[in-house]
Amino acid sequence: MRVVLSDPLLPDVVDEYRDRLDIVVAPDGEALRRELAHAVGLVVTLSVKVDDELLACGPGLRVVGNFAVGVDNIDLEACRRRGIAVVNTPDVLTRSTAECALLLLLACARRLPEGERMCRADAFGGWEPRMLLGRELLGLKAVLVGRGRIGQATARLFEAVGLDVDFITRADDDGAVQKKLGAADVVSLHVPLTSSTRHWLNAERLSWLKPDAIVINTARGPVVDEQALIEVLERGALGGAGLDVFEEEPRIPARLRALDRVVLLPHLGSATRTARAGMARKAVGGVAAVLAGEPPDNRVV
Ligand code: GLV
Repeated sequence: MRVVLSDPLLPDVVDEYRDRLDIVVAPDGEALRRELAHAVGLVVTLSVKVDDELLACGPGLRVVGNFAVGVDNIDLEACRRRGIAVVNTPDVLTRSTAECALLLLLACARRLPEGERMCRADAFGGWEPRMLLGRELLGLKAVLVGRGRIGQATARLFEAVGLDVDFITRADDDGAVQKKLGAADVVSLHVPLTSSTRHWLNAERLSWLKPDAIVINTARGPVVDEQALIEVLERGALGGAGLDVFEEEPRIPARLRALDRVVLLPHLGSATRTARAGMARKAVGGVAAVLAGEPPDNRVV
C-alpha cells in the first residue's frame, strides 16, 4: 500500500509504520505529484495545499493525513466528492500549543524581545529602576476566542498563573463580543481558520480593545486582519501582540518586524518532540488505519 509523504516528518516514528505501508517521501512538489499516480495514501504538512488539482494526480487515493490539527490547507469538499478520507492530529498538540500561548503572553507582558535584543546588542548599561517595565499577569482578564481543546487547555494555564478567563464562542452575539473584548487585558485566539473566522479580529473588533490590551495568536494567521493589527500597533492603540502565525506564511511584513511591542515566532505552536511525535503517529497511523479498514479516532472526512 503505497503512501506518499510530502516531508520526512519524524523519521523514527514514520519507520514504525513501514511494516504495514510502503512509504515514500517526495523531495519536492513535482515528485509528490508523480508519486501520487501510484499511491493510495498521502500525508502532507500544513504548507501543502491539497486541492482538486493535486487530488487529480492520485486516481487511486483513498486517504489524506494532515500533519496538523487545522485542516484549512485541505479542500475537504473535494475530498468528500472523491470519496477520499481525511485524518488530522487532534489532542497530541493541545498542550504544546497552549504552552506556546502562555509563552507569548509572558514574553509580551514582560517585554522579553526588547530585553533580549538589548543584551545581544551589548546595550545593557546596568540595572535601572525604570527600564523595560512590563505588566504582571495576576488578576488580568483574558478573553479566549474559541472553547475547543486548545482554548480550554490555554484557559487552564492562564488561570494557573492568575488570570481571570472568559471565552467568546459562536453563541455570543455582536453585543456580547464587544462587551467581552472591551473588558479584556488579553485576547487569545483559538479557532480554526474557516470562511467565518477569516479576519475575525478585524479593524472594528480591534477598536473595541483597551489601548494596553495584548493580542495572542497561535491559531492561524488569517484569523487576524494583519494589516489592521499593524495599524493599531503603529498608532500605539494596543499594548502588544504575540504572534506564532501570519497571514501569508512564511512572509512576515516588514512593518510588523519593525515594531518593538510584538513577539514573533515562526509557527512553533506544536514544536515539541512530544507533540510532533504524536502528530506523526496520528497522521501516518490514521492513514494506515483507514487503509486497513479500521475506523481511526481522528477522521475529519
Ligand atoms: C498547527 O498549526 C496545526 O494546526 O496543527
